[in-house]
Amino acid sequence: MNIKSILKKHIIQSLTNNGIKKSSDILVYNTYDKKPWNYQINGIINIAKHTNQDSYTLAKKIAIKMQIHEMYKSIQVSQPGFINIFLNETWMFKKLEKKINSIRLDVKLQKPKNIVIDYSSPNIAKDMHVGHLRSTVIGDATARIMEFLGHNVIRMNHIGDWGMQFGMIIAYLQENKKKLELLKFLNFNAIYQKAKKLCEKNEKFLKKTQECTIKLQSDDKCYKKIWQEIVNITIHRNEKIYKKLDVTLSKKHILGESFYKDMLPEIVKDLKNKRIAIEHNGAIIVFLNTFKNRNGDPMGVTIKNEDGRFLYAATDLACLKYRYEVLHADQILYYTDSRQHRHLMQIIEIGKKAGYIPNDFQIEHHMFGMILSKNNRPFKTRSGENIKLSFLLNEAINRAKTIAKQKNPAISNKKLNLLAKKIGIGAIKYFDLSKNRSTNYTFNWKNILSFNGNTAPYIQYAYTRILSIFKKLEISMIKIKGKIQLTELCEIKLGFKLLQFEEIIVETSKKGMPHILCGYLYDLATLFSHFYENCSILFSKNIKTHNSRLILSFLTARTIKQGLKIIGISTINYM
Ligand code: ARG
Repeated sequence: MNIKSILKKHIIQSLTNNGIKKSSDILVYNTYDKKPWNYQINGIINIAKHTNQDSYTLAKKIAIKMQIHEMYKSIQVSQPGFINIFLNETWMFKKLEKKINSIRLDVKLQKPKNIVIDYSSPNIAKDMHVGHLRSTVIGDATARIMEFLGHNVIRMNHIGDWGMQFGMIIAYLQENKKKLELLKFLNFNAIYQKAKKLCEKNEKFLKKTQECTIKLQSDDKCYKKIWQEIVNITIHRNEKIYKKLDVTLSKKHILGESFYKDMLPEIVKDLKNKRIAIEHNGAIIVFLNTFKNRNGDPMGVTIKNEDGRFLYAATDLACLKYRYEVLHADQILYYTDSRQHRHLMQIIEIGKKAGYIPNDFQIEHHMFGMILSKNNRPFKTRSGENIKLSFLLNEAINRAKTIAKQKNPAISNKKLNLLAKKIGIGAIKYFDLSKNRSTNYTFNWKNILSFNGNTAPYIQYAYTRILSIFKKLEISMIKIKGKIQLTELCEIKLGFKLLQFEEIIVETSKKGMPHILCGYLYDLATLFSHFYENCSILFSKNIKTHNSRLILSFLTARTIKQGLKIIGISTINYM
């Protein structure tokens, strides 16, 4: 149940009944005062202005036509034209009861769309590093949320498996006479770095690198074999990380740059025919008026460079076309950092011009900021290298192990290992997800693993507290029966928060911003804590109150579990 959208629907109905079609200005706000189940409707003043009416009178007219619904306790109009809505508490309790019988916690399925989500997408022959955390974790949370809402999600791991790095690595392997059988023991990252340095100072090596790249790209069997081997080895290494991170990406979601290579000549030809791209100093370039360079001239997007290599933009155009034409995408979401924003905006614009996607196509770049270290510099090792993701995840698990052991010294090793994984990985993921993705954030172990504040351990702990109530009473959660009757402010607040679950999920999905859901789960856990401290459950004398509070606790536990699950975080049953 989505209260905000029901309210909006009622207002629009009432506007229509009053002969007004314009409803885009209507905004529904939660007033967040002492009783958060009060709402305010804004936008009437604007509509009154456009329709030449007195705003207060219009608000009154709209309110009168809305009065009948059982969800309202009262509707009041205030100057100069606000409508204040007070929800009927009995109606809220009924809706909470409805949740108990719903496995989806009364979250409606949406009309299914094919949604392509492009995320993680690391470059091959390099180790995944901390920079890949955000795309992988935020993209995966969005994929899960969209699926929960009933959409057909097409996960796309657009790996960079066709670039110059292969030419460099192959040239280096040849120079150093490395045996192919030993490939799986090699550190490609280090080889790539060495080759890159060699390219800078050794022209002969640079040339060899280019030759190797061209040989590979012209489908030379021998080069393709080495390439395939390097790709397979890296994918295998990355898969281990995905598993540890508990993300839903697997081999079947990989469709890398190399997949589109045969489409590229066609794309260039097509763009030239449509007079979108032109030949310029031997290269193929699209000039876009909407993107200006430093001199204020239309900026060129190079599709194919003068030595005949197709560039990143060409692949992304082919990929866009493929996703629309072949995968029948209704919507495409990209999760890459903000440095690729201009590139993607250019691709989208060229794609529309060329007719690869319709003009009103739903396509968005959900970009994100960087992860910084304490001194506000990019989060790197002391020697300035990227921190490997595998290292970071192991460190999180080890730190969580120490904390869990402190909290529970008698725990068995097997349980400790399981717990440490759920707490450590959950904490790293949640910390990232809980930050508004449009900004940078500072990495800090102490905050990430803290049991206070907006962190995964805090919410996971709240969940275990609820379980322990049921354990103490020796009753099974699912056996609780009875009615919901809330009287204390802190319990009504908790109940109302539970009713907002769908509204929050929908908002999170629309914006692709999991921090909205994280903030909600944190508030929920905090409200539960207030409720637990102020409203006795174990010792409540009245059986009806006792049951009602148990049901409320049960619903809180389920909402936390479901909420964490759809952002890819596990709950724990004990601490
Ligand atoms: N491989 C790229 C990188 O590591 C990200 C790819 C994002 N997706 C895309 N369709 N361009 O930066």
